Amino acid sequence: MCGIVGYTGHRQAYPVILKGLKRLEYRGYDSSGVALLHNQNLQVHKKKGKVADLEETLIGKNLEAQIGIGHTRWATHGEPSDRNAHPHLSSGGEIAMIHNGIIENYALIKQELVNKGYSFTSDTDTEVLLNFIEDIKKNNECSLEDAVRIALKRVTGAYCILLIEQSNPDTIIAARKGSPLVIGIGKGEHFLASDASPIIEYTKEVVYVNDYELAIVKPDELILKNLGNEKITPFITKLDMELAAIEKGGYEHFMLKEIFEQPNTIFDCLRGRLDAKEGMIRMSGVDLNIEAINKANRIMIVACGTSWHAGLVAEYIIEELCRIPVEVEYASEFRYRNPIIHPGDIIIAISQSGETADTLVALEKAKEKGAFIFGVVNAVGSSIARISNAGAYTHAGPEIGVASTKAFTGQLAVLMMVALNIAINKGTITQERYKELLVELEAVPEKAQAILKNANELKVIAEKYKDAHDFLFLGRGYNFPIALEGALKLKEISYIHAEGYPAAEMKHGPIALVDENLPVVFIATQDVYHEKIVSNMQEIKARKGKIISIITEGDKTSPTLSDDCFSIPPADEIIAPILSVIPLQLLSYYVGIAKGTDVDKPRNLAKSVTVE
Ligand code: M6R
Repeated sequence: MCGIVGYTGHRQAYPVILKGLKRLEYRGYDSSGVALLHNQNLQVHKKKGKVADLEETLIGKNLEAQIGIGHTRWATHGEPSDRNAHPHLSSGGEIAMIHNGIIENYALIKQELVNKGYSFTSDTDTEVLLNFIEDIKKNNECSLEDAVRIALKRVTGAYCILLIEQSNPDTIIAARKGSPLVIGIGKGEHFLASDASPIIEYTKEVVYVNDYELAIVKPDELILKNLGNEKITPFITKLDMELAAIEKGGYEHFMLKEIFEQPNTIFDCLRGRLDAKEGMIRMSGVDLNIEAINKANRIMIVACGTSWHAGLVAEYIIEELCRIPVEVEYASEFRYRNPIIHPGDIIIAISQSGETADTLVALEKAKEKGAFIFGVVNAVGSSIARISNAGAYTHAGPEIGVASTKAFTGQLAVLMMVALNIAINKGTITQERYKELLVELEAVPEKAQAILKNANELKVIAEKYKDAHDFLFLGRGYNFPIALEGALKLKEISYIHAEGYPAAEMKHGPIALVDENLPVVFIATQDVYHEKIVSNMQEIKARKGKIISIITEGDKTSPTLSDDCFSIPPADEIIAPILSVIPLQLLSYYVGIAKGTDVDKPRNLAKSVTVE
């Protein structure tokens, strides 16, 4: 949550920062602001609303500066407003700071500062930390760097902070714990950001700053230290990402672009790993650790949101193919209870961003207890990728739309390959079935393409149901998690209340909601449950509910019970969820568009939830 950008070098800082903030807006868009330093003049501009609102207020202003910091906010402490927007200025007006994260003991520190006579202009924990730093600097007559180091030893919580000060014309001080920070290395210039998207246009050489590290960044110099003031050699990584990947490429929204990218992103995910002709899957993360995996008595899957839904699909598939018991946990629950973890337990962590705070902390705890972490992550070099003992990237490319789409199908593709790989190694699947599923998986990109060709049909359905107040999504077996995902997508994008349920569970309560105004979406593709789900449709029809069904081409029964149908190509029931979710993504997108919501930046949400 919150996006941060910093620049020091030979260019004008404001355009670099502004562009960077627009790229990071998916991380939060309640307010934004910049601090620019030129000739010892520190100017701060901030505005409630989106980055475009800030940009508008700054038209015509003199923004000359070659060093600056900028922030786009997802509110935690204090409502979205101009005064709570970052950057904050210290009481003395000499230091400006931006912050991503939460300072948990801010109230205690604030009280100490109030007792010393400090007053505050915002409700934020950030302003507290900033004045705490200023106070330490004054009292100890030390440098800003030293003051930051001393302050950070006292704070608990998560942070990535960037600071500039009036008396230091070219230096940014940065530090992180729990919230991401990437530093791009240019010629006579450095770029700082929450992820690589604001940097990639200028340089591909980056340093991922680790927790408890502090960076002193000047145009020609990058010094990394730990909080004990010892120097650390920066580890330079080459970015494997192109600028086009983070632009809309002619689509009206990132979400639509990302939905339509899926044939390619799934292909990229399978490429080099799955070889149906040879009848094999190569995944070094699994292959190199196969003994540990084979020994596991159970697998735990830890994730949040859409990634948690991918985990549920994986539970069904791993138990079926590998005969290993699987438990799927919400990371936010797992981290606070006292889960039973034995050394050698396998935990699969699923995350698009690789920065979700709940997931990250859950993994840290599990790792401390000796668990082996297998990461299924999209963002290369992210915190979860780095904390994992092994893993497999989803290779879906940057996902900018707040609603996760292509990352989800990438997660499913990876998890299916992981399950197949384990199963063939454990001998819990026959060679014949294994090869059959490899062929099925290899065919997914082409089938996804076929679904997307008919996207307009979903636009028509969306128009018809856009005014409904509630939706019910029902599925069974492998498609039950897809029902949950369909409901989550619709809620996020259109703000329509939606519930996902196992279709048979519906009669234990939700059926009371059914009347002629309730659209019920059935994920009713051909599988062993098909007859059962047809009976569930009958039950809804008998109560006058409106039925929208996602079916397999050639299904003759479901259309007779449905008000609207969308067909997808036939696929093995284990593979079908990667395909059956695509129409649901499109349905939510088109309902959102019909209702006029901001589909790429739905209200109250942020792409990367780096606070608990
Ligand atoms: O980056 P992660 O996959 O760890 O994020 C987890 C959830 O925050 C995320 O899936 C969220 O539910 C999405 N907005 C869903 O579209």
